[in-house]
Parts: sequence; C-alpha cells; structure tokens
Amino acid sequence: MMQALIEPVVVDCDPGVDDALALAMILATPKLDLVGVTTVFGNLGIDQVTANAAGLLALAGRGNIPVAKGAVSSLTGKFSGGVPHVHGKDGLGDQSLLSGVQSSPLGKHHAAVQLVSMAKESRSNGGLTLVALGPLTNLALALQIDPEFDTYVKRVVLMGGNAFCMGNATPAAEANMLGDPEAADIVFGARWPVTMVGLDVTHKVLLSSEQLSRIAAQPGFSGSVTSRTVPFYQSFLKRMNGIDGIYCHDPSAVAFLLAPELFQTRALPVRVETKGISRGKIWPSLGDTDDESPEPWQDRPAIEICTDVQGPKVSSLIERALLES
Ligand code: RIB
Ligand code: CA
Repeated sequence: MMQALIEPVVVDCDPGVDDALALAMILATPKLDLVGVTTVFGNLGIDQVTANAAGLLALAGRGNIPVAKGAVSSLTGKFSGGVPHVHGKDGLGDQSLLSGVQSSPLGKHHAAVQLVSMAKESRSNGGLTLVALGPLTNLALALQIDPEFDTYVKRVVLMGGNAFCMGNATPAAEANMLGDPEAADIVFGARWPVTMVGLDVTHKVLLSSEQLSRIAAQPGFSGSVTSRTVPFYQSFLKRMNGIDGIYCHDPSAVAFLLAPELFQTRALPVRVETKGISRGKIWPSLGDTDDESPEPWQDRPAIEICTDVQGPKVSSLIERALLES
C-alpha cells in the first residue's frame, strides 16, 4: 500500500490567537510533519510571540519540536508595537493559557539561520513547505544568508496580503505585509512557488460562535486553546466588524495545504508598495506576460494569489481539524 505522503512543514509565526489555531490544526493533521517553528515580531513583540510558540508546543506535548527566535523588527528596523488590543497583552487572549507550562529551551540559532538548515535537511524527503503566518522578515533574511535558500524550499504558503480588496491594518494594507513590505517584495520575487492566502479569501472563512463553542468544549489541546484564547479575539472582531465568530486568517493557510481545491487562484507577478499611504499593499500585475505589465512587474515570477474560496467548506474543514485534537 502506498504510504501516505508525509509533508515536512515549518511554520514561521507571530502567535497570536489565529496562529495558535493554525498550529493546532497542523499538530492534529497526521500527513503534516511539523519539523520546526520560527517566530517573528508582529502581533506582539518577538519575546512574547516566541514564548507563546514554545509554550503552545509544550502544552500540546510537542516540546520536542524546535523553536527558533527570529526578527525583532522589519528589514528597515520598524516594529509598530503589536496589536495587544486584538490578541490580548499576552497575545493569547489574556487568560493565562500558558501559566505553569514548562517550555523547552529555544534553539541557539536565529530563525533565519534555522530556516536555511531545516530547508536543506528536508530536501531528501520531498522538500520543505514553509507556512508563513506573520511578517516575512525571517524569510527575506534567510535569502540574504543563503541566496540559494529559495531553491531548497518546496513551496511557501503564506497568510497575508490583499490583492483585490481593502486591507485590515490600514485601508490599503493587510497586517503581515504592512509589518515588513520590503521583505514581502523580496519573498514574492524569489524563485520558490508561493501561494498567497490573503484577505481576499480569509475574510470569507469564518468560524461561528456555535462552531467555536463545539471546539472549545473538547478536551485536549485545541479545546483549551480555543476556550482560553478565542473570546478576547472574538470580542474585538464583534466590536470592530460586527461579526459573530472569528475570521480564520492563519487557519485558512493551513486549510489550503489540506484542500487547495476549495480555493480559486490566479497566477500573477506581484509587487508590494513600500512608500506612502499605501505602504504594504499588494499590487498584482495586469496580466501574466511581460508585455502586459509595466516595468516594475517585468521579470518577476508569477505567484499563486487566492482570489476566491468556498468559505463554508473551508470553515467546516477547520472545525473538523480542531475537533480532532
Ligand atoms: O492580517 C491577519 C494576520 O496578521 C494574521 O496572521 C494575524 O495573526 C496577524 O499576524
Ligand atoms: Ca499571524
């Protein structure tokens, strides 16, 4: 019998409530082998998101998975201070989910160094899938450390960006891309296959309060994470967007790994705005051939932009994955 293909995955993240749910989905999915976690500033500062990543893995009984601490700020030295009003001061809903949890020691190398070595190691078993759930600084730094890094990686699936819709951090930009537009432009111009799971689709993937209650009632890791971290995030979204439930930003990137057929995509070169009031905006080219695109888009690889999604089906997939762990 053909052995089901086990896909080595590294998550680069800024936990963050939805990052935590995305990690829970991966840990609950046998065909995904989480070989490492790297952290990046974003929702909170690097020390907090790193403690959260290590603590979540320990809580899940997976303290053996290495965690490498990454960038404290963007390539240009910027960090907004994070969004504690969205994810809580501790980044995980301010319900002391991790109090008393003993985390494993962090890896001694910077996340960017660790990404290069994990990608090299994974070449012999099909190549690494990089799931990026925060600003793309670590990936850009890894490309600076080793210009061949993009050739070691099988694919990048990232939550971030907004191609044909408004932003969420500003009217122009989505939070992860705004965190480091220069890094994002480098990542979208490299040679690896990239799938952008952006607001164009994640704003159509919601977990309702009813679904969240079912997950939260579960014993186990996903139940604890959901019951303790989601209420804070949910009340923010209720106040800001009037929704009943939560947008599944980061979980949607994992859902793409599991069921890409539920997503509609378009292959286009993109640039990332780095100046002015639209800083962080993703600009797809007009078409997929050079003569259709003005100079800044020429000679750029096409990336796979998720342009639409079967939202309810992805929401059910996320719920099932979280109910299983
Ligand atoms: O815009 C949503 C993204 O920004 C998510 O990854 C969330 O965790 C924050 O990092
Ligand atoms: Ca995130």
